Amino acid sequence: MTKKPSCLVVDDETDIRELLVLTLERMGIASDSAANVDDAKFMLSKGQYSLCLTDMRLPDGNGLDLVKHIGNHHSGLPVAVITAYGSAENAVSALKAGAFDYLTKPISLNQLRPLVQSALKLNESVAAPANDLTLIGESSPIKQVRSMIEKLARSQAPVYISGESGSGKELAARLIHLNSSRREGPFIAVNCGALPENLMESEFFGYKKGAIPGTDHDKVGIFQAANGGTLFLDEVADLPLAMQVKLLRAIQDKKIRMVGDTHEENIDVRIISATHRNLSQMMESGKFRQDLYYRLNVIELKMPALRERQEDIPLLARNLLETHCKQADMPLPRLGSDALDVLKQYPYPGNVRELENILERALALCDGKTITTDDLLLEQEALTPAVSMTEPVDSKGLALPDYLENIEKTAILNALERTRHNKTEAAKLLGVSFRTLRYRLSKLGLGKDQDD
Ligand SMILES: Nc1ncnc2c1ncn2[C@@H]1O[C@H](COP(=O)(O)OP(=O)(O)OP(=O)(O)O)[C@@H](O)[C@H]1O
Ligand SMILES: [Mg+2]
Repeated sequence: MTKKPSCLVVDDETDIRELLVLTLERMGIASDSAANVDDAKFMLSKGQYSLCLTDMRLPDGNGLDLVKHIGNHHSGLPVAVITAYGSAENAVSALKAGAFDYLTKPISLNQLRPLVQSALKLNESVAAPANDLTLIGESSPIKQVRSMIEKLARSQAPVYISGESGSGKELAARLIHLNSSRREGPFIAVNCGALPENLMESEFFGYKKGAIPGTDHDKVGIFQAANGGTLFLDEVADLPLAMQVKLLRAIQDKKIRMVGDTHEENIDVRIISATHRNLSQMMESGKFRQDLYYRLNVIELKMPALRERQEDIPLLARNLLETHCKQADMPLPRLGSDALDVLKQYPYPGNVRELENILERALALCDGKTITTDDLLLEQEALTPAVSMTEPVDSKGLALPDYLENIEKTAILNALERTRHNKTEAAKLLGVSFRTLRYRLSKLGLGKDQDD
């Protein structure tokens, strides 16, 4: 049985109400309208709506009250607020209060249409996404993350995912996308630390031909590629300040301008950002713009470190081993109980990714039947940090700069070794940006490499 979708429009200005009702009608949506909070509450209690659009300022209250009322009494009904142009704070507080999205005045059809379509999709019964991405674990922190992901998937609010390296930030971002009304749209992940600074603007927004010397065709940017879907800004702390301003405008106005273009175009992109760094600290020290921080961090999802959910380690280890053996088409060895004890005790600075790496290495080293403590190579690793700070310095007759260079080289090589030469991950382990690592590598003559 298909029922015509219906919308409740709440605005005290007759003109806007009528315009919205008419526009929605043309989209095949029946609407009722209300001019104040009280009427709206009454109509909500009577009707079965698929969406509510409400103005922020109403004669007897504000849109936020209505958003909260809907959250409490009609949970599951998507509500979007209409905010005055330039009142970014309103949009942010509405999203925090549970609004699924917002529109800025003057209302443009190009923004209304995708918003309404997204809202209607939320009411469709969701078939479990056809892939095997899952967040493994039964500990209470991971259960909380799972239920948060479900909630976030029903909203268009920007989400900021924090958490240590390898704790599953990207996995969480993908799951939010796959469970959202945008699931059929693209999911584009960008490592902000890996984009060359001088090309950043054209990478994000695209360029018109000729705008960049030597170009003979237009090129779309990351935002256009992510249109209708989700843009995952990974390592967002690595964005240079100049780019932060431009990004803020794009997010706030939902509009972008290609390099060399005079026109702006609308974009419909949900932003999820992440970094393993402490963004609020960076903001306090002036390295990250406060306004962008508040825009990105409307809702924060914290990924717990693996050592905070030790009880998940056996389940994770078994699952990871199974997946790997299946992929490599090899028999699944037993995980010895001593080995499991050691795995449970290890602190995992690199979290789940490190556990994955340890297990893959163990699979290669073990006798094929049982993974033993020795195969994990963990004792040595835990006992031999890259540089021991407690040992007396013995520069072995080297001049200080050479000695320091040696230490740096060792630390870098160690990090590369531990991450199987994945520079992005190695940079994180070392606590430097991808750009910095690349620079240090070439400076130390560790040179040209495969995965730039
Ligand atoms: N709860 C989990 N269940 C299953 N696999 C997980 C879980 N958490 C993380 N992983 C796996 O661990 C690896 C690292 O996860 P992911 O790339 O999402 O981490 P990250 O937080 O983005 O790391 P980084 O800070 O290094 O970018 C991936 O292979 C991911 O699938
Ligand atoms: Mg990541």
